[in-house]
Amino acid sequence: MRTTLRLLAKLVVFRCISVYLVASWFVPDEVYQSAEVAHHLVYGTGHLSWEWRHSLRSFFHPALIAVIIKFLDILSLSSQPLIYHIPRLAHALLFALADFSFYKICLRLCKTKGIAENSFVTYLSSWFVFYCAPRTLSNSLETSLTLIALNWFPFETKNFKGPTWPYIALGVLTIIIRPTVALIWLVFGVYHLYHSPTPVRLIFQLVLPVTLPILIVTTLIDSWAYGTPTIPLWNFLQFNVVQGGSALFGVHPWYWYIVSGIPAVLTVQMIPIIVGLLGPNIFRPSLLPFFATITYIIVHSLLPHKEQRFLLPIIPLLCIYAGGAFQNLKKWRGSAMAVMIAINIGIALFTSRYHQVGPFTAPRRIMEEWRGHHGKLSVAALMPCYSIPGHAFWHDHLDNLRLLDCSPDLEQLRGPTELDESDQFHGNATKWLIETFSLEHHKYQRVLMYEKYYETSRRWFESNGWYQCIEKIWHSIALTSSREDNYMIVLCRNGY
Ligand SMILES: *[C@@H]1O[C@H](CO)[C@@H](O)[C@H](O)[C@H]1NC(C)=O
Repeated sequence: MRTTLRLLAKLVVFRCISVYLVASWFVPDEVYQSAEVAHHLVYGTGHLSWEWRHSLRSFFHPALIAVIIKFLDILSLSSQPLIYHIPRLAHALLFALADFSFYKICLRLCKTKGIAENSFVTYLSSWFVFYCAPRTLSNSLETSLTLIALNWFPFETKNFKGPTWPYIALGVLTIIIRPTVALIWLVFGVYHLYHSPTPVRLIFQLVLPVTLPILIVTTLIDSWAYGTPTIPLWNFLQFNVVQGGSALFGVHPWYWYIVSGIPAVLTVQMIPIIVGLLGPNIFRPSLLPFFATITYIIVHSLLPHKEQRFLLPIIPLLCIYAGGAFQNLKKWRGSAMAVMIAINIGIALFTSRYHQVGPFTAPRRIMEEWRGHHGKLSVAALMPCYSIPGHAFWHDHLDNLRLLDCSPDLEQLRGPTELDESDQFHGNATKWLIETFSLEHHKYQRVLMYEKYYETSRRWFESNGWYQCIEKIWHSIALTSSREDNYMIVLCRNGY
């Protein structure tokens, strides 16, 4: 008992450190599909992206964050740093619980305690899990809930003592948060049904009674939040699968996960995982998590839109197999682990502290510099859409954040060859400034943009009363988009 509590305490500290250390920007969804929507629910301010205007997302995850924000508000703790960090802390703490649950799963599945601990260290040292765990990202919540759910999964079939409804309930919640995780649960569910002596009874006396109330409650939450009866899960499938809408966000070849996605997120952990899977049978745990992983990767490979973060839930499932490989190394085990951990610490520090940090440092600098002024800020971010955080981060310092629009033209309001606003700006910044921004630039006190676009449009800003008022802000050394630059520029309008 003492040792398990001590492990849990260590995991809590570990994930809390990540809340502090992870200061970089990863993907817009981290803010705009969760915390920003929550801010809108509680305060009525916050940008709702087009997915929310078309009822494609469930409010379940934002509603959880909204409860946290509302709580802070009631306790009069609604200052900007707390509004931003406490939801992150909540995600990280849940992840600590998930880590703990995963440790117990390793103990159950691996042949010896030593192997289980190797597998657990392989997972715990993953830079990508460290990088994602404290983010208000649906993938983070989905993964932590999946790991907690698996604690109640009957891997041992007939020898499993204990209730299985918690895994079904949590599994349904993960599907509501991210429908694609159903692929993992499909495999686990079929296994459970196959090994059940009474599969029909299992469905009617357990699965349905657990699932239906959850579906009804979440549908009610969504219908309340959208103001009309809505089942976002249905809309999501309809849009992404039937209409092929996910392709709007970029298309990758089918082999992208195998040659790029998985190596990037797993890095050196790939080696013990592959060795463990192919190595001697005596060390290899049940292949069930591996089959779930394969199903997940195959179907995701067939979907046109691919992202690294979609791989988060399968990292722990694969790490289960790494333990056996270390067991084979005997006296080199310690050194191999040290190398694996060191490499991951390096990547984690680089990606958390130096890579894509501008979207959070720039707003902080602007808020600091604005402190002596009266009133709230209106800021125009002339950069790829959703590349800086909104009200969920600035909280009460922000009056209005102008983003370049890049919503897909679902109602076909634009002509067939007409570009969206973001493409227009990045095509010829000066032209867009003259034609569009000159009509509205007096509404903003600050403009934020990447340096190279400022270079090309400097003349327009100087002749319209804008000047560079804060030293340029470091963004990143390794740029992931041609529309970014190493530095961000903050412009002030004369007199403000
Ligand atoms: C951008 O637009 C401006 C104004 O319309 C024009 O003078 C300039 O030549 C354009 N630049 C490029 C590179 O097309």
